[in-house]
Amino acid sequence: MRKETGIELTRRALDMLEREDTTREDDVYLSPVDSYICPDWLALEKQTLFKDYPLLVAFSCELPQAGDFITNDDIGVPLLVVRGKDGSISAFFNTCKHRGSKLVTGCGRVQGGLICPYHAWNYDLDGQLRVIPDKGSFPGVDKAEHSLESLPVVEKYGMIWVCPTPGKTFDIDAQLGGLNNGLVDDLKTYKFESYHPYAQRRLHRKMNWKLMLDTFLEPYHFAPLHPNTVGPLLHHNLCLLDTYGQNLREAVIRKSIDSLRDEPEDTWDFPLHSAIVYLLFPNTGLVMQRDHVELWRSFPVANKPDECIVQMDYYIPEPAQTQSAKDHWERNMDLAVRTVLEEDIPGVEGMQVGMTSGAMTHSTFGRSEPALIHFEREIARSIGRA
Ligand code: FES
Ligand SMILES: [Fe+2]
Repeated sequence: MRKETGIELTRRALDMLEREDTTREDDVYLSPVDSYICPDWLALEKQTLFKDYPLLVAFSCELPQAGDFITNDDIGVPLLVVRGKDGSISAFFNTCKHRGSKLVTGCGRVQGGLICPYHAWNYDLDGQLRVIPDKGSFPGVDKAEHSLESLPVVEKYGMIWVCPTPGKTFDIDAQLGGLNNGLVDDLKTYKFESYHPYAQRRLHRKMNWKLMLDTFLEPYHFAPLHPNTVGPLLHHNLCLLDTYGQNLREAVIRKSIDSLRDEPEDTWDFPLHSAIVYLLFPNTGLVMQRDHVELWRSFPVANKPDECIVQMDYYIPEPAQTQSAKDHWERNMDLAVRTVLEEDIPGVEGMQVGMTSGAMTHSTFGRSEPALIHFEREIARSIGRA
């Protein structure tokens, strides 16, 4: 984040604290429970959000060298992302053109090319079919027509986005709300390409995929739900919201910010006194903590509005090489994971049961939950249910 942005946000936070205010919507928002429980609603989301939109699939730092790859089976198509010999990124269906076997699993580094484990068809890192073993048994089969099926991909700001529909094009800056807006400005300054992947957690939980993201989008729950973890560190029910198209930046404020009142503005370090949540529409929550980044991605499970897969990736600025560094990050990550796993998610799974019970037709989002309102409204709009 640029220093001027941090100073402006600090001013806004101190002003709100003085007025005991927060960012507020004009009115309450009624969010239909169908959004969380209806299979038709989910089908529309999958068709639109998980087919037509660019989805964040990795940070560049996960694939630093030629042959580095990641796979993803959560977005609805088997996805393979790989760095080529020239340093560029490609995305393909992770599907061999012989008989459809998966080419690779998990993540890792291949030397030279991609060799199918089933019958050893051999592809270049740019997806071209290079070798068909026992070629004589495939008369008339043109290698050029059996290259891997590619998917649109963009690498920018140390992040990699893929649209899971072949042939589609996308403009990632337009999706981020426009070139040189506050969001893009912030992303540029973070230099995610120089971070280091530290840990990853995957969860399969009984809740709608949006509920995982919702939990990051309002500080109205901090004091009651987190009294012994992050609650004492953060100002309750105070957020600064800025929206960028369908995306948003929501800063929640550490109590330590109070000490800045008596300090000169040019010494203010906003990220040190806040946690900054970016919602990268549709399914990514990026949380900038003081010294690390958490990437939370949520994926629906086909035909099951009440289930989701959540992947949390934890990135740190320097590799953890010493035991004391490892201890530091373990403690740090433990607080983040414990807060979410033991407090947010059980609360949210309870909401899922409540919304399915027939007891209610809608959730009532208050004026002090503007980020939540923005997200749910944009979801409804994007699938024609607003
Ligand atoms: S399925 Fe890949 S080589 Fe046969
Ligand atoms: Fe929470």
